[in-house]
Amino acid sequence: MFTSKISGLGSYVPENVVTNDDLSKLMDTNDAWIQERTGIKERRHIKKGDGNSTSIMGVKASKIAIERAGLTKDDIDMIIFATLSPDMYFPGGGVEVQELMGMGTIPALDVRNQCSGFIYSLSVADQFIKTGMYKHILVIGSENHSGGLDFTTRGRGVSVIFGDGAGAVVVSRNDNAKGGILSTHLHSEGKHKNELALSGPSTSCWVPEIIDKNPQEDIPYYPVMNGPFVFKNAIVRFTEVIKEGLDANNLEVSDIDMLIPHQANLRISQFIQQKLKLPDSNVFNNIQKYGNTTAASIPIALTEAWEKGQLKEGDLLVLAAFGSGFTWGSAIIRW
Ligand code: ACO
Repeated sequence: MFTSKISGLGSYVPENVVTNDDLSKLMDTNDAWIQERTGIKERRHIKKGDGNSTSIMGVKASKIAIERAGLTKDDIDMIIFATLSPDMYFPGGGVEVQELMGMGTIPALDVRNQCSGFIYSLSVADQFIKTGMYKHILVIGSENHSGGLDFTTRGRGVSVIFGDGAGAVVVSRNDNAKGGILSTHLHSEGKHKNELALSGPSTSCWVPEIIDKNPQEDIPYYPVMNGPFVFKNAIVRFTEVIKEGLDANNLEVSDIDMLIPHQANLRISQFIQQKLKLPDSNVFNNIQKYGNTTAASIPIALTEAWEKGQLKEGDLLVLAAFGSGFTWGSAIIRW
């Protein structure tokens, strides 16, 4: 059986920086509240006319990842695209990437697992490589949150948290047979689907129904989140799934060289770090600069950690995510 490894990685964020003070001009919020509760100082938002979209950002990150893998677009056998904010209701972003990059008629799969989307996608790529079906798979996480958030005081509990951006990796057959992706671990619990959700427009809440709503009511085309409930579940599931991954490989927490958690909220990352008793140098966070970019957060953070030289050959890298669904997962990787 083959194994897989990450052979190239890249990221892209829009140039437009939106600070907490900028948001406080739109809604009743302030820098102190946002930093204290989430650790976020600023995030990037697509600006009208800057030419970006979820798929276009995904393409920008992908081009860097493919080049760093020493490959060309024609070497890619499959695209897996994770997002909760696609450019269109259907088709998904994967086919847009295929078209924008001028790739051949390779398969393009969209993954809708929100904050866990990148881990789920990595796991799917790993399985396709393991079976020997494909050699190089492009895995993308990209989000345009700013296009669909409520920037009035009504939406402040959600809208201050999220930012736009994209990250991509190439998952390749590991010809070394040493290291690479050791295992992935995926979970879901649909009974909590309404705790962090955007319900419409959808077939259960179609456009005429939305138009009939009183604008003062909860509007179904904006996300809703039960923040404290999400927080409590996240810290339990993150820790569980990291330990599950380590156990599966007969590894200990003390073997972790670098943990990159999905950048949900700095307080969540710090809580996990404390629970696992990991030193600051072994946990990577950049939510302070980008906010929560959902499916893009891990590949953006992974790319930055690698660019800063914080990942060395042979390091034990642990990726973990939790989010809407609820869904959660981890990936244990020997770099
Ligand atoms: N600015 C100022 N005040 C605010 C804001 C804001 N942006 N948002 C909410 N408030 C107010 C609320 O209205 C409330 O006021 P009240 O006491 O008068 O009713 C007060 O602040 C406290 O609200 P809570 O929602 O209880 O605040 P909490 O301390 O729980 O913090 C937060 C909210 C940051 C969302 C927290 O619950 C959290 O981190 N939850 C985890 C969820 C998360 O990280 N989600 C990310 C996406 S999901 C994922 O990626 C896993």
